[in-house]
Amino acid sequence: MASSKFFFSQLLHLISGRCCIFFCFLLCFFFLFCERCRSESSAAAKTDPIEARAVNTILGRWGQTESSVWNISGELCSGAAIDGTDAGQFNPAIKCDCNFHNGTVCHITLFQVFALDVTGAFPEELSNLTYLTTLTLSRNCLTGPLPAFIGNLSSLQYLDFGTNALSGPIPRELGNLKNLISLGLGPNNFSGTLPAELGSLRNLQQWYMTSSGLSGELPTSLSNLTAMQTLMMSGNNFTGKLPDFIGTWSNLEVL
Ligand SMILES: *[C@@H]1O[C@H](CO)[C@@H](O)[C@H](O)[C@H]1NC(C)=O
Ligand SMILES: *[C@@H]1O[C@H](CO)[C@@H](O)[C@H](O)[C@H]1NC(C)=O
Ligand SMILES: *[C@@H]1O[C@H](CO)[C@@H](O)[C@H](O)[C@H]1NC(C)=O
Ligand SMILES: *[C@@H]1O[C@H](CO)[C@@H](O)[C@H](O)[C@H]1NC(C)=O
Ligand SMILES: *[C@@H]1O[C@H](CO)[C@@H](O)[C@H](O)[C@H]1NC(C)=O
Ligand SMILES: *[C@@H]1O[C@H](CO)[C@@H](O)[C@H](O)[C@H]1NC(C)=O
Ligand SMILES: *[C@@H]1O[C@H](CO)[C@@H](O)[C@H](O)[C@H]1NC(C)=O
Repeated sequence: MASSKFFFSQLLHLISGRCCIFFCFLLCFFFLFCERCRSESSAAAKTDPIEARAVNTILGRWGQTESSVWNISGELCSGAAIDGTDAGQFNPAIKCDCNFHNGTVCHITLFQVFALDVTGAFPEELSNLTYLTTLTLSRNCLTGPLPAFIGNLSSLQYLDFGTNALSGPIPRELGNLKNLISLGLGPNNFSGTLPAELGSLRNLQQWYMTSSGLSGELPTSLSNLTAMQTLMMSGNNFTGKLPDFIGTWSNLEVL
């Protein structure tokens, strides 16, 4: 009896010892592995260098050099640019999607410079931010034309360059942005008519173009914009009659 008790307690001791060693080993392995994963993914996920250069050039020209929430000068896709922080909470802002190439490449999906009194032309470098879904440049002092390359940023869903002093015609290439949901054109100092190509923006739900300097008749192609919910177009020199097609925009809530 005593010897079997001794035997069992020894066995228990042995097992728990082995378990402990095994458990420790497992724990160590787990930690090492996790650390490796963590450092690998944070070391490996890098902002696309072409996009980084574009953002650095633009922000440098506009004198934006410091941010406490994301790394404006170094690795751009860091801090608030990749965590859950809402882009409304910091400015200037970028947001990145780091899920490209097995989580090794970050592309910039949002670029925002809102109401920071930046001046000069609509930045050409933006043509390299081809993954943008949101571009916000509203409430600044941008002058000169809206460039045709805007039509190449085909992922754009939210585009706002309202409240600037942009001039010249609205480029017909804007009609290439088939994914646009919201478009802020005005106020601005554009001239000429709305290009018929804008009738291709079938997903457009919000369109702000108050006081944009536009004139002429509204193209009949706009009848295809049946997703429209909010259309603000006062303070322009549009002529002709209010088109019948307004009646086919069954989702319209604000006109
Ligand atoms: C910004 O990034 C650079 C290079 O990636 C790094 O050396 C620097 O420490 C970073 N700064 C901050 C505030 O994260
Ligand atoms: C992603 O990782 C998987 C498995 O490690 C690999 O087979 C695949 O080729 C990788 N894809 C890319 C784009 O690197
Ligand atoms: C876009 O990036 C390429 C590669 O860095 C560069 O050569 C080109 O000048 C950039 N385009 C603009 C408009 O900055
Ligand atoms: C748009 O992209 C196409 C294909 O990359 C290019 O040929 C064209 O010049 C670009 N348009 C503008 C206005 O930059
Ligand atoms: C608007 O553009 C016209 C030329 O089209 C120019 O004469 C005028 O000064 C501009 N106004 C503003 C406020 O920029
Ligand atoms: C509308 O046209 C008139 C006369 O051509 C001009 O004086 C006025 O500035 C224009 N208004 C807008 C908002 O473009
Ligand atoms: C609306 O879209 C259809 C299909 O793409 C097209 O055939 C039609 O011409 C467009 N309507 C107008 C007035 O442009």
